[in-house]
Amino acid sequence: MSYPISLTVNGLRRDVTLEDARVTLLDLLRERLALPGTKKGCDRGQCGACTVLIDGRRINSCLTLAVTLDGAEVITIEGLANGDMLHPVQAAFVEQDGFQCGYCTPGQIMSAVGLIAEGHAGTDPERIREGMSGNLCRCAAYHGITRAVSDATR
Ligand code: FES
Repeated sequence: MSYPISLTVNGLRRDVTLEDARVTLLDLLRERLALPGTKKGCDRGQCGACTVLIDGRRINSCLTLAVTLDGAEVITIEGLANGDMLHPVQAAFVEQDGFQCGYCTPGQIMSAVGLIAEGHAGTDPERIREGMSGNLCRCAAYHGITRAVSDATR
């Protein structure tokens, strides 16, 4: 059985036929749509490395079945910058050293963009840490991440 879906990814309409209803959005992005910026960490909803926005809300793409996304709008890390101009959250991560090895950074940034859009971030470090608690950083660059989210919120 095949499952045709049509979704918008980073502003481009993508028509895809899935051969398997169990394909996750994460695998669709990385393996079919050549968008490897979204990272696979745990592949079970525990690390946040795979965070993207669906219709403006942050989700773990490893837990989301692509077949459920017909008509959805997806934004990945590749869709944030405007040409050579970094998105303000990306710029804040650079400015505040909000990363070390960088593997979790796309997920951290997408989660921060979603958190700020939700209006719950503020600049209080405790609130930011709580709002970003679904995104793990094995290098423990949390101070820089928190500063970056705070800066980007201002
Ligand atoms: Fe999706 Fe870890 S790869 S939460």
